[in-house]
Amino acid sequence: MAVPKETIWEIDPHTSAKHKILEGYLKAWFPVISRFNPVINYIDGFAGPGVYSKGELGSPIIALNVANQHTSDLKGNINFVFIDEREDRIANLIEELKNISLKSNFTAHPIRGKFHEVLDEALGNLEKEEKVLAPTFVFIDPFGFSGIPSTIIQKLLTIPKVEVFINFSVDSINRFIGTKDVEFHIDELFGAEKVSELFAASKDRVRDLRDLYQIMLNSLARFVRYFEMRDEDDRPIYYLFFASNHELGHLKMKEAMWRVKKEGDFKFSDATDPNQIVLFEKEDFGEEVFNLIKEKFITGKYDVEILKIFVENETAFLDKHVTQALIFAETNDLIEVDPLKTDGSKRRKGTLPNGVIVNLK
Ligand SMILES: C[S@@+](CC[C@H](N)C(=O)[O-])C[C@H]1O[C@@H](n2cnc3c(N)ncnc32)[C@H](O)[C@@H]1O
Repeated sequence: MAVPKETIWEIDPHTSAKHKILEGYLKAWFPVISRFNPVINYIDGFAGPGVYSKGELGSPIIALNVANQHTSDLKGNINFVFIDEREDRIANLIEELKNISLKSNFTAHPIRGKFHEVLDEALGNLEKEEKVLAPTFVFIDPFGFSGIPSTIIQKLLTIPKVEVFINFSVDSINRFIGTKDVEFHIDELFGAEKVSELFAASKDRVRDLRDLYQIMLNSLARFVRYFEMRDEDDRPIYYLFFASNHELGHLKMKEAMWRVKKEGDFKFSDATDPNQIVLFEKEDFGEEVFNLIKEKFITGKYDVEILKIFVENETAFLDKHVTQALIFAETNDLIEVDPLKTDGSKRRKGTLPNGVIVNLK
């Protein structure tokens, strides 16, 4: 898609998948984080005008609606910061915001400016005042790849309780890499010089670009996942990278991804481990997840809880998939399940809660 010049443009079909993930995640993130923190921030660094040409909602309005319409009242203060470099788009967003009556503990700050400059300044001011940024979720959704220098990502992720969700436009990076005018943006995105030379001999540039970005984020955050969006010709168009140091945040993001599954002709998958690409299409992943468990653990006895911690923290799968895996394994005689649980009580037949001991054969 060519970069739109108008204030408001037509929504791309795959944008709605991105919005559903964002929405799904915020439904969990706002209540979890605001329960324990009096102030939290939601920053949309590339906010856009708030609406698309046929009236579809843009990311700032989606985020505000999630907070406003949350079933349990969110008690803490939430600062919504919406940044866009274009005056017309910020003006349009301000108009859209007038249609929303925000709860008294929420504030919206539309700011015209460049994402990294606005944040650099704000973080610099906090540092001078010896203050730490409150827990913050940063949505980074540029049209292409310019304007997200690795330096700002590094600054953000070294602050406790800050997480980022980045639209990594691999398709446009792949198309423009090596082009003189944009070289600088690609170099700053990766925080390296002459990135194009690194990829000169690459046989799979999309994969290598994605891997390099993952390595960069992995050096900054404990949990890094990426989700791959492919077009109808099965070509990757973008990756949504999530980076966080928060175990529960990571889990909630995975849950949001699993809820989105398939979007029209677009395929959406977790590809964080390229050897284990997970398409969110099937219902039963028992065999796949059991194979992952077998790769990780040697034969012997394990509390189900240990297996769940591994699957939740280190794979694309969820708690319910561990149950599927163990049901698959028990049915196929690949495990034995102890009749007694770790606390000495009897295991109820057919159940696999924490405390049940399984013997991997
Ligand atoms: C893909 S659109 C954002 C769409 C929006 N996040 C949504 O989901 O509805 C990217 C926006 O970023 C703005 N933009 C481009 N470069 C920017 C920069 N360096 N800093 C802030 N905004 C920028 C553009 O004007 C455009 O409105």
